[in-house]
Formats: sequence, C-alpha cells, structure tokens
Amino acid sequence: MPTLGFGVFQVPDLSQAEQAVTDALETGYRLIDTAVAYQNEEAVGKPIKDSDIPRDQIWVTSKLWLQDYAYEEAKKAIDLSLKKLGLDYVDLYLVHQPYGKVDEAWQAMEEAQEAGKIRSIGVSNMTPKLWKKFVPDFDVMPAVNQVEFNPYFQQKELRQIMAKNGVALEAWAPLGQGNAELFHKPVITKMAKKYGKDAG
Ligand SMILES: NC(=O)c1ccc[n+]([C@@H]2O[C@H](COP(=O)([O-])OP(=O)(O)OC[C@H]3O[C@@H](n4cnc5c(N)ncnc54)[C@H](OP(=O)(O)O)[C@@H]3O)[C@@H](O)[C@H]2O)c1
Repeated sequence: MPTLGFGVFQVPDLSQAEQAVTDALETGYRLIDTAVAYQNEEAVGKPIKDSDIPRDQIWVTSKLWLQDYAYEEAKKAIDLSLKKLGLDYVDLYLVHQPYGKVDEAWQAMEEAQEAGKIRSIGVSNMTPKLWKKFVPDFDVMPAVNQVEFNPYFQQKELRQIMAKNGVALEAWAPLGQGNAELFHKPVITKMAKKYGKDAG
C-alpha cells in the first residue's frame, strides 16, 4: 500500500475531480481515496483508465455508505461502486462509518473479497469503543482502520488495539485538514528545519 495518498473528499464536481486525479497521478501519487458518499467514483476511474500507469501500480480505495448497511444493499452497492469506477476490482473497500447493520455490510464485503472484487477490506472511523462492539464478531480481521490521525489526535488507545491485531492505521486529516496552527507549532517547525522539510 502506498504510504501517501490523494483524497477526493468534497470534490463533487466530476470534471474537477477528474482533473484533480489526473494531476495527482502525474505528480506521482499512486493511491486515490474516494467513497460512495463523495459522489465522484466515476471521476476516479476514468483518469486511471486513461493513464499509461499499469492498474496494479495504482491503489484505489472506496467506501460503503450508511444507506447500504444491510447484506443485500451492501452487495449491490459494491457492484455499483465497481461499475462507477469502471474497474474490475478495488484495492481497498471500507465501511465508512461504523453505525447500524455493520455486521451485514461486513459479510457482504467478505464475500466480495472472496469473489475477487475487493483485494482488502477494512473499516473507517472505528473508535476503541466501536471496535470492541463490532470487530470481535467479524470472521475476517479488517486490514485497515482509516481514522483521523495527526499530531493533535494521536489515537493512542486505538493504536494499541490495532497493533495487537496487526491492523494498519490509515490517517485522514494527517495535516489537521489544513490546520494553520499545526504548521506553525515550534515542535513541528523545528523538526521540519532539522530534516530540511516543509512543515506539512
Ligand atoms: N474516512 C473518513 O471519514 C474521512 C474523513 C475525512 C477525509 N477523508 C479522506 O482523507 C482525505 C484527506 O482529507 P483531509 O482534509 O482530512 O486532509 P489533510 O491532509 O489533513 O488536509 C488537506 C489540506 O491541508 C492543506 N495542506 C496540504 N499540504 C499543506 C502544506 N504543505 N502546508 C500547509 N497546508 C497544507 C491544504 O489546505 P488548502 O486547501 O487550504 O491549501 C489541504 O487542502 C480526503 O480527501 C478523504 O479522501 C476520509
């Protein structure tokens, strides 16, 4: 899984999203993160197809949204994601928000993984409390938990639980969603200077 990714949250305009993904691939990003709820899966798949980069060198993540958390609904939603993306498989598919019939959604995702439609299945926004509520009933351990994670929100308890289970943490808001204060914190700017890097 690439270390750095490019997310297309809050880019509902399909032509803008498509341009952004095209630029991201040209810049060197090899992980694109979308979701059913972002309403732009089409705009992620097209530039991937149009590029010269082999499909297996690009990691595509999408996420199941709340209205599809029941077994039959989740199965249909996974197929619709693939259709919109125009891809034979997604690299990672996540339960976007852990509320409602997560167990049924998870069963549909496990089956889609077995069928080769999804390479890895994971969850998102699972706090320690929600992790303990849902994950013990899963047959397949989530590969990833995508959560808010940055210097202001270090997820210490969650990271311990996930480490025990060999689950990878993927950060959203790694830069605090562009939090200007974070970029000027002396502890950050001193490290940036020491390593010759941008604070971000
Ligand atoms: N699973 C979930 O529930 C969930 C939730 C939220 C997001 N996500 C995913 O995570 C992706 C990332 O979103 P995010 O907003 O959370 O990301 P973020 O990386 O924390 O924030 C991105 C913002 O940081 C600013 N920035 C970037 N580089 C910078 C630098 N070097 N110096 C100063 N500012 C810099 C930019 O702000 P300006 O635009 O102002 O320049 C940019 O828009 C989303 O697109 C989505 O794919 C997932």
